[in-house]
Amino acid sequence: MIQVRNLGIDFGSEWALKNIDLDIPSNTTCAIIGPSGCGKTTLLCVLAGLLVPTAGQVLIDGQQLRGIRKNTGLILQNNGLLPWKTTWKNVELGLRTRQPDRKIVNEKVYSILKQMEISEFRNKYPAQLSGGQKQRTAIARTLVLEPDILLLDEASSALDAITREQLQNLILEIYKNKPTTLVLVTHSIEEAVFLGQKIVVMKKAQIKHIMSNPFFGDADIRTKPDYYNVCMEVRKRLCGDA
Ligand SMILES: Nc1ncnc2c1ncn2[C@@H]1O[C@H](COP(=O)(O)OP(=O)(O)OP(=O)(O)O)[C@@H](O)[C@H]1O
Ligand SMILES: [Mg+2]
Repeated sequence: MIQVRNLGIDFGSEWALKNIDLDIPSNTTCAIIGPSGCGKTTLLCVLAGLLVPTAGQVLIDGQQLRGIRKNTGLILQNNGLLPWKTTWKNVELGLRTRQPDRKIVNEKVYSILKQMEISEFRNKYPAQLSGGQKQRTAIARTLVLEPDILLLDEASSALDAITREQLQNLILEIYKNKPTTLVLVTHSIEEAVFLGQKIVVMKKAQIKHIMSNPFFGDADIRTKPDYYNVCMEVRKRLCGDA
């Protein structure tokens, strides 16, 4: 369970986050949406323990978060792959520092590459991969460590519409196979409604609205009118002044 209490981040000239209160139950998903500069990445960095709050606190399973946490996985906007390492080497990197048994490392890397549908690119370098393949590699590198909290910052925003939906399908499938606490930041209303069990609308350093999404988990939701109704609701919250 993630509990954010009266959280504030002051970068000196202005508050990047102010009075943030948010509960994310374990093994549920939460999509954070809001305009550029409203504080989404900053909030994710606080949840990851990379930024210390100026005010308030974050509790994880009842314990105050102090610094980075081994079982939290974070994938930032620029995916952070090492250009001089192949897909396989990028994915095994973190695991090798934690798992001395080479055989277990190989099995886990093999299995996650397969799950993320990037096995065939295992010997390629990031520069030889498409945007979608790079994102899947970055997600594989984090998932192979089996985090209990996964934080995703705009995993699909640089992708074309079809590749983006494929990645969203894959993320939903992985979540359904093995639920973790998934917090994802997105600019896309459709993505927030497809992947967010809870949808948090932010505006200028604050949470403007929190809604629960009754249709979460339905992989075919995009073809149903209900989906568009929830999208419309999010759009109203995002664009309206109320
Ligand atoms: N290290 C920093 N020092 C000073 N100000 C910062 C720092 N990081 C972010 N900010 C400011 O904090 C605010 C929130 O930034 P943040 O990156 O969280 O926005 P965002 O919602 O993720 O935007 P985007 O959708 O464009 O990624 C912005 O006004 C930004 O300029
Ligand atoms: Mg951001």
